[in-house]
Amino acid sequence: MIGVDRSEAMIQAAQDRVSAPLVLGDATTLPIATASVDAVVFVSTLEFLLEIDAVLAEATRVLDPEGTLVALVLNTRSEYVRSNLQREGSYFLRMVHRDTEALVDTILEYVEGEQEFFLGISDEQVSESTDPSKAAISAVVGTLPE
Ligand SMILES: C[S@@+](CC[C@H](N)C(=O)[O-])C[C@H]1O[C@@H](n2cnc3c(N)ncnc32)[C@H](O)[C@@H]1O
Repeated sequence: MIGVDRSEAMIQAAQDRVSAPLVLGDATTLPIATASVDAVVFVSTLEFLLEIDAVLAEATRVLDPEGTLVALVLNTRSEYVRSNLQREGSYFLRMVHRDTEALVDTILEYVEGEQEFFLGISDEQVSESTDPSKAAISAVVGTLPE
């Protein structure tokens, strides 16, 4: 596993939690060889990036032809995300892609796969939720087109 973020503070925070190699870098130009990784995982990241096409093109470049792309995406239809988008000072206000369905459609232009709703968050408690109107996070899971 290799962790990548362009924020030095985030790399430092991750270093305190995991022993995996962490790289300070930009997702549009990954220092990773073409077709060399089994999986690319975005953890609530794509919705915050302006340069989403360049990032997805780079993710699919480094992915092995048999590999899997997993994008965890905040669901702006959920109460949890909607309330955070109304809260002053919330990090969620930095989200540039607030139409989750359009974001998922963009991801699915790069990989063949589907969106799964799986995680609800309420009163800071995490639970299983497959309801598209309630699940706070969904996963887009896909593979490269043949
Ligand atoms: C909402 S945070 C996700 C945090 C992290 N994945 C986690 O689970 O805690 C979005 C992250 O994307 C990073 N980021 C934004 N644009 C980036 C880019 N072009 N390349 C690499 N990282 C980027 C930001 O520095 C920020 O840490």
